[in-house]
Amino acid sequence: MPQKIPSRIKGIRKKTEKMEQETDVLIDTAKTQEELDKIRTEYLGRNGLLTRLLKSVPQLPLKYRPEAGGLVNTFKRKLEQNLRNKRDVLRKEKEQKELKIDITMPGISPELGSIHPVNQIMRRISQIFMNLGFKTVEGPEIETDYYNFTALNIPEGHPSRETFHTFYLDSGELLRSQTSPVQVRVMEKEKPPLRIIAPGRVFRPDATDASHSFMFHQVEGLVVDKNITFADLKGTLSVFVREMFGEKTRMRFRPHFFPFTEPSAEVDISCIICGGNGCRVCSFKGWLEILGAGLVDPNVFGTVKYDPEIWRGFAFGMGVERIAMLKYSITDIRLFFENDVRFLRQF
Ligand code: DAH
Repeated sequence: MPQKIPSRIKGIRKKTEKMEQETDVLIDTAKTQEELDKIRTEYLGRNGLLTRLLKSVPQLPLKYRPEAGGLVNTFKRKLEQNLRNKRDVLRKEKEQKELKIDITMPGISPELGSIHPVNQIMRRISQIFMNLGFKTVEGPEIETDYYNFTALNIPEGHPSRETFHTFYLDSGELLRSQTSPVQVRVMEKEKPPLRIIAPGRVFRPDATDASHSFMFHQVEGLVVDKNITFADLKGTLSVFVREMFGEKTRMRFRPHFFPFTEPSAEVDISCIICGGNGCRVCSFKGWLEILGAGLVDPNVFGTVKYDPEIWRGFAFGMGVERIAMLKYSITDIRLFFENDVRFLRQF
């Protein structure tokens, strides 16, 4: 009865197809790993439906065993693969739930920095002088005695050295106590005419208080040309004062002494807080000192081999923190250097 055998294979095929339909639905709707384990035991366990079907194959006549075995084994591999795939899907879902990622939540925006108020003022100063045709240059913070003093007409033992209290290094070099040495460095390298400003840090061993810091910033200015007079200095600085502090601000020159300029002056502006009437900021004087200036001393020209009979110049130097404090009504210089973002964020 040869027809009977194929009908038994048909039966096996039917059974595997039925099991496939069943397991597809079961696996598809399974929500947990436990449910998947149950399906596995039910079909692939020692007494599982599929295991039993596989065990029935050797009872078939030898001739039909390969085909029947093939059918059942193919389905077995498919079922195992489906179970593995679903296990991976469930595992990923579980991981995401555990991470509690809520993709609808707003992101964390990075904190934005801003330019330090001292640098903002320094840039503004540079901008004003750039518009007047000045070039910005820089010099080293570690200087020699020669550039910081000697070449600026402050020889050894000269009493005015005392006014520039200085940090000395073991090497014999020093931390520059002013930006004026940049004047000398530029004149040594370049031929006149010149129009430069030199912003940068300076250092002095002052006890720290509301108006003193051992490190602060200056902007130095130098112009060398033929026929330069004190009027050029006044004109240039009056443009600066107007641009920096506003149209109404007045300026005055007080005679002073600096070794590298002759004549020299200290320059005041009318108090930008009280307009000159007198207040705490200007110590009830109505005026605020903002810089030192003068006509370049011929001795300095001699040092850099500029002929003082041909070349004239003016120079000035201002403290950046002081100007920033006046502009922003800041009463303690230490605030600039404490790196407190609550302070810095305001600028
Ligand atoms: N270097 C001086 C200081 O630190 C400031 C100064 C005064 C600079 C007069 C100059 C100048 O160029 O001409 O106090």
